[in-house]
Amino acid sequence: MTSLRIGQGWDNHRIKEGSALILGGVHIPCDFGLDGHSDADILLHAITDAVLGAMALGDIGMHFPDTDPTWKGASSDQFLRQALKLAAQKGFHLVNVDSTIVLQKPKLGEYRAKIRESLARILELSLESVSVKFKTAEKVGPVGEGLSAEAQAVVLLEKR
Ligand code: C5P
Ligand code: MG
Repeated sequence: MTSLRIGQGWDNHRIKEGSALILGGVHIPCDFGLDGHSDADILLHAITDAVLGAMALGDIGMHFPDTDPTWKGASSDQFLRQALKLAAQKGFHLVNVDSTIVLQKPKLGEYRAKIRESLARILELSLESVSVKFKTAEKVGPVGEGLSAEAQAVVLLEKR
């Protein structure tokens, strides 16, 4: 294996009234949230898949099936921490993360610092190695119509 590995992840969840909106481990005050077996944190799910992908270790559903009652309502940082542990077992650590949340509303800009800080804590990275971007879907498609939200992530891992 070479000393650098890149990984990509994507996730989407349905928007549901009465659910919590948790992005990168941060609770966003909102009158709707995301539906899912776990806490439906699309950003942590996308980053988890990116880490697993970088290591060619399958995907999040393979490691944490949504049919397993263990993960009902689970805080998704567990998935990410476990993916990082699997990478560490292969001698790899995270270098940086770049990510995008696609959500029609609410505007998330005021939460960027909080989300980056939360990710930096979970990922054990410095703040400057953690990027989070936000996009609407220009009112087009399921995200644009407020039916769902998406997150995308890329990561770089390096062998110690
Ligand atoms: O999707 P669009 O290009 O119109 O987004 C413009 C800007 O609005 C983004 O670059 C981002 O800074 C911000 N944004 C946000 N929260 C969202 C969507 C977009 O803060 N849910
Ligand atoms: Mg998910």
